[in-house]
Amino acid sequence: MKHFLNTADWSRPELQAMIDEARRLKTSPYGDVLKGKTVALLFLNNSLRTRTSFDVGAQQLGGHAVVLSPSGGMWPLEFEDGVVMDGDAEEHVKEAAKVLSRYCDMIGIRAFPKFVDWEEDRKDKILNAFAQYADVPVINMETITHPCQEMAHVMALQERLGPLDGKKFVLTWTYHPKPLNTAVANSALMIAAKFGMDVTLLCPQSEYLLDMRYMSQAEQDAKANGRHVHVTHDIDEAYKGADVVYAKSWGALPFFGKWEEEKPIRDQYRHFIVDEEKMAKTNNALVSHCLPMRRNVKMTDGVFDSTNCIAYDEAENRLHVQKAIMKALVSS
Ligand code: CP
Repeated sequence: MKHFLNTADWSRPELQAMIDEARRLKTSPYGDVLKGKTVALLFLNNSLRTRTSFDVGAQQLGGHAVVLSPSGGMWPLEFEDGVVMDGDAEEHVKEAAKVLSRYCDMIGIRAFPKFVDWEEDRKDKILNAFAQYADVPVINMETITHPCQEMAHVMALQERLGPLDGKKFVLTWTYHPKPLNTAVANSALMIAAKFGMDVTLLCPQSEYLLDMRYMSQAEQDAKANGRHVHVTHDIDEAYKGADVVYAKSWGALPFFGKWEEEKPIRDQYRHFIVDEEKMAKTNNALVSHCLPMRRNVKMTDGVFDSTNCIAYDEAENRLHVQKAIMKALVSS
């Protein structure tokens, strides 16, 4: 039995095989590979795409999805081992994972960081607890990485560009009024490096660098492909000759728990918005965002609504790649 927690746990050929299967499912969406199978989808945070695409995907393959969330009446869970449970939690994750495993064939988990202490958030305790205690495959539906999004992104890029080796991929930090999860940024960096792209990370200053766990993984994958990950704070340098621009905002890791100190720094960098002037410096680059996205804050209408933007394709591909992932996991 194998979980789908992080693409770093899977080889490039294994991931490519799932993307190839997703491409087949895109043209032939229905089947019975999940007939009689149920996936439990546990959402501790909001979602539009992930929730809908997993539910629809399971149904299209003959299966069934059960959506669970605290706001939907689930018991509050305890995630720490060995604690005296005299607080709000009524149920330990060990029981939740083991009981769900008796009813369901896979468990999806969405659990964002709490944004108070990165050292604590980076342990990814909720996902790892389910992976430890469940007797069925667990899927990361976004915690501190977002592997399903990575897969959909690569699929969309391959649909437009063919082989990705050597293409210049720019992950750019963009302004957002609130500090956001680093998950998609971590994932984008790792998958672009793994698929042989020439990766540049553009962020306003060093505090916005990503966790070394993911920077190092990306560097290791880049090295295996004879490349390396380039980091810059220079907008012109980053955009020059880019084949792909991926936009994402995230909170600076050193400021977890003291966001009032980060805000004046972040507010200086509204000009990191992806706009027509910056895109004109690229090699007619494709551009994307995982969505949801604040228009004219992270990216201008002109760029987002252009034919170079593949965000809708990427969002659609979530459905296809997740079906391929579920299919691979139930057969593992
Ligand atoms: N990109 C993504 O995961 O979208 P949702 O948050 O709407 O699920």
